[in-house]
Amino acid sequence: MKKILSALFIFSLLFTVTACGNGGSGVDSVQTEKTESGSSQTAADTSSKDEQAENAEPLESEPETAEPLENDTETSNDDNNNGDNHILVAYFSLAGEQYEVGVIEKGNTEIVAEMIAASTGADMFKMEATTEYPDTYEELLEVSRQEADTPPEIAETVENMTDYDTVFIGYPIWWGDTPAIIKVFLQSYDFSDKTIIPFCTHGGSGLAGTDRTISGLCPDSTIGEGLAVRGSTAQNDRDSARESVTEWLTDNGYAKE
Ligand SMILES: Cc1cc2nc3c(=O)[nH]c(=O)nc-3n(C[C@H](O)[C@H](O)[C@H](O)COP(=O)(O)O)c2cc1C
Repeated sequence: MKKILSALFIFSLLFTVTACGNGGSGVDSVQTEKTESGSSQTAADTSSKDEQAENAEPLESEPETAEPLENDTETSNDDNNNGDNHILVAYFSLAGEQYEVGVIEKGNTEIVAEMIAASTGADMFKMEATTEYPDTYEELLEVSRQEADTPPEIAETVENMTDYDTVFIGYPIWWGDTPAIIKVFLQSYDFSDKTIIPFCTHGGSGLAGTDRTISGLCPDSTIGEGLAVRGSTAQNDRDSARESVTEWLTDNGYAKE
């Protein structure tokens, strides 16, 4: 009961701000313009967190896709996976106790990441912190809060990042934003000539403007259309999640022939 109340408290906070931020305009109101500054944001940048929270989507927003952000490089959606493309799915995801789904053996985002890799033939990289995350939801809330001041270190690196021209980046929405580890990851490599495609799982916020966070951190990358899948759908209704993933990949030309 305590956990439910805690989760409700967090989300009601986020969604209260959301309702003020976008006039409660509903599922189709994902804003996709680049961050105005185009400058780097960090996990400790609380003003950017507020901005993300303002863009969090209401509970009915799943699945949600966002149009590609404006960028300098024109890409065709016809066939982005012609075999010459080297694709990586890099993601962060936690098992253990998670919002809405109880104790899970495989993280919600990991399930979606595996679907993407299976459909595209991509390689996979799982981001893990050098310090293990707690496996109870309440403790995780506390640790994640502290990460704004103390970002985690990533245990392993992608040795051959230069081989990839397209990188799907997957994460759970935390506090209306990407987890800090995603920002650490994006700042650890040169993504300037790459296409980054965000995807997330969430408890009701949708992408929550995280495509703009990523665009701000990687201003010289092409940012593709993002996908948001509700965590409980990824975990408990995999056929429906797979359908959303397949449709999104097909629409964007990433599904293998
Ligand atoms: C620390 C923390 C903060 C969260 N904040 C949000 C949020 O702001 N909005 C939301 O929709 N879901 C939020 N959630 C729910 C997660 O996004 C959701 O459960 C996700 O599917 C977990 O994915 P994973 O199993 O891959 O880690 C939060 C979960 C945690 C643990």
